[in-house]
Amino acid sequence: MRSAIKRELIGASEKFKAVMEQVDLVAPADCSVLIQGETGTGKEVIARALHGRSRRSNGPFVTLNCAAIPAGLLESELFGHERGAFTGALSQTMGRFQLAHNGTLFLDEIGDLPVELQPKLLRALQEQEFERLGSTQTIRVDVRIVAATNQNLEQMVNERRFRTDLYYRLNVFPIVLPPLRERIEDIPFLVHHFVQEFSRRMNKTIDEIPEHVIDMLCLHDWPGNIRELQNLIERAVVMTEGRILRPPMIERPTSPSGNSSKPVRTLADAERIHITETLRKTNWVVGGRSGAAAQLGLPRTTLIARMRKLGISREALKPTPIWCGSRQAEGMRFEDGRRALARAAAV
Ligand SMILES: Nc1ncnc2c1ncn2[C@@H]1O[C@H](COP(=O)(O)OP(=O)(O)OP(=O)(O)O)[C@@H](O)[C@H]1O
Ligand SMILES: [Mg+2]
Repeated sequence: MRSAIKRELIGASEKFKAVMEQVDLVAPADCSVLIQGETGTGKEVIARALHGRSRRSNGPFVTLNCAAIPAGLLESELFGHERGAFTGALSQTMGRFQLAHNGTLFLDEIGDLPVELQPKLLRALQEQEFERLGSTQTIRVDVRIVAATNQNLEQMVNERRFRTDLYYRLNVFPIVLPPLRERIEDIPFLVHHFVQEFSRRMNKTIDEIPEHVIDMLCLHDWPGNIRELQNLIERAVVMTEGRILRPPMIERPTSPSGNSSKPVRTLADAERIHITETLRKTNWVVGGRSGAAAQLGLPRTTLIARMRKLGISREALKPTPIWCGSRQAEGMRFEDGRRALARAAAV
């Protein structure tokens, strides 16, 4: 049987720590929480963490993805229906609100909730009561709502596509998840975590991740965020035969500000050229004693951040995506990863 990937929360960046502080703060408060963030940033895992750290943790965690269910069926999914309430309603069915009694109801993709259903959800939130479709009997529940979206709900409110009153009711405590490209310090920890998890699942022993691979991953923009990184590492683990992680194939990182062949006009141009030259001399090794960061007198993460900002990458100077780096490059031992993970776990 395919074992599931552990839903552990990994991260050590200041931004991630700030999110976890908010989770700890609001979990026991029992109020509604609205989680916003790009796709793959971890909205669902954060919702589960909120539930797990709340006084409802022994109760159910029920999810409803408002985008995955046809609009016509959503009301019945939320509140349930009586037998014969509509064509095809062959038996009485409980809705997710009732299933989540004494627990948490996670309303995913809340921006896709049809406008006509929004007043009903608002009432259920405010009064903690509702009726099944086709019934006049009022059902009372005790449910905490955590909602999530990757849409801009405030803008939807301005465009009258989302009700203001429901928005404020859900947005009692907002949590905004930063995209992965804004917390690159988390990437090494996530990579180690996923390599460990996928090797375990595939019965492989991979105990070395070349440092230049980590650097390359830190330079990518990650539009699909943590899910994209996870999928890439899964692919890399599948393709790895020995104990050293095979560098994953990655699309050319987006370069926000061109490449180093531009004429020198600005201070940024000069900086780009100097950094690129140093990288060429070190054969694109960023970290370590003889790497570019040390030669430029910068911490490794600072150099990577500068490279991202200036659009410097080895791939940006080449016409097509490549398999990055060689297997001989300086390795990041698994022990380093374990220590790093232990620090992250202390968050
Ligand atoms: N901090 C984290 N540590 C480890 N894994 C994480 C973390 N955050 C997210 N993940 C993993 O990344 C994947 C995407 O997370 P999740 O499904 O929660 O994202 P999402 O924001 O709900 O995405 P979508 O908007 O596409 O629904 C999951 O496999 C999840 O386990
Ligand atoms: Mg999700």
